[in-house]
Amino acid sequence: MSNSIPTLRWGIIATGLISSWFVDDLVLNRKDAKANHIIQAIGSSSIDKARAFAEKHLSGQNPAIYGNYDEVYADSNVDIIYIGTPHALHKKNCLDAIGAGKHVLCEKAFTLNAREARVVFEAAKKRGVFIMEAMWTRFYPLTRTVISLIHEQRAIGDIQRVFCDFAMDQKIASLGPESRLKDPALGAGSLLDIGIYSLTWGLLGSDSGIGAEAQTPQIAAKQTIQDGFDVATSAILLYPNGRQAIVSSSNLVDPKSNIICTIQGSNGHIDIAGFPSAPEYFTLYLKDGSSKKYEFERPGRGFYWEADAVALDIAAGRVQNQIMPWAETVRVLELLDEIRRQGGAKFPQDEVV
Ligand SMILES: NC(=O)c1ccc[n+]([C@@H]2O[C@H](COP(=O)([O-])OP(=O)(O)OC[C@H]3O[C@@H](n4cnc5c(N)ncnc54)[C@H](OP(=O)(O)O)[C@@H]3O)[C@@H](O)[C@H]2O)c1
Repeated sequence: MSNSIPTLRWGIIATGLISSWFVDDLVLNRKDAKANHIIQAIGSSSIDKARAFAEKHLSGQNPAIYGNYDEVYADSNVDIIYIGTPHALHKKNCLDAIGAGKHVLCEKAFTLNAREARVVFEAAKKRGVFIMEAMWTRFYPLTRTVISLIHEQRAIGDIQRVFCDFAMDQKIASLGPESRLKDPALGAGSLLDIGIYSLTWGLLGSDSGIGAEAQTPQIAAKQTIQDGFDVATSAILLYPNGRQAIVSSSNLVDPKSNIICTIQGSNGHIDIAGFPSAPEYFTLYLKDGSSKKYEFERPGRGFYWEADAVALDIAAGRVQNQIMPWAETVRVLELLDEIRRQGGAKFPQDEVV
């Protein structure tokens, strides 16, 4: 470990799938790490689950183990709370962590709707703590390279269309009604679970602006609703200059190809391969017939890039991150709200004012 880089002590809330992926990546030994990450505490609904999680994912380390979340928020050795609960709990978990004066990194979807996100950001602003939606894909070197190529270097000329699809057979029929993938009160539905990544690529591919600097596209959307949640969503984003982004998600079927996103311009196109959340490589094709494949080293899954960025922000005294600022999280949720308004997917919490 180097002393010249900041150290951040994390309290992990929940011991589900995403929390396991996140801590596995944070404890990796990386030669180019920009920060030291210590998993200081684990909080779970059950102390046995917390203990089993630590044994499996943090062997040789000695995190504090709690059978609830409140003791993690109260732990004075914890700098920042990582929230890996289902989306419907994010608002409460964020507000509780902020109330205890902790910084927060909260999984996507940040909240169920834009209204909830505004409440959380207002609380963070008042308390003066850092908070960010864990939209990890935006921090990938691959993503930063694509953005620079298409918007700064204009490698494919004028952008005309962007396609992105995130499809995954999540075996919905075999899950119990309590699953976060089936219970609308927990935020079930393909749109907030995986469609949020398709929308992210649609936005990043179409426009160099984010947050307050972004253009506002018109939306046309349809959803297939089964048992009260969306199993498929398709949306078209139409920009003032005529550019279109066509974004979709399905939790019933697997993807039709390894290419998850295509960005087409007047001078060529880019094909991105892998998962929309965790892209692996991309190829730039130019109209002169030439092409170039861009590959990237990625030990583990790639959650450390967002975690390093958060550590650098906090060390510098910033309360938000410039790649995923608060206004961008709210903008994405407003677009998701509009897609759901047209498509029909509702959460019980939408009615609460
Ligand atoms: N960034 C990514 O690529 C990515 C990937 C997958 C998921 N996610 C996001 O991460 C969040 C969690 O997803 P996941 O797949 O990790 O879910 P999961 O495996 O079901 O885990 C969720 C955890 O939350 C806690 N929890 C508290 N109340 C709960 C309730 N009423 N029902 C279910 N769990 C409850 C449980 O942990 P304890 O019992 O230990 O408290 C549970 O293990 C979601 O918001 C999802 O969108 C992000």
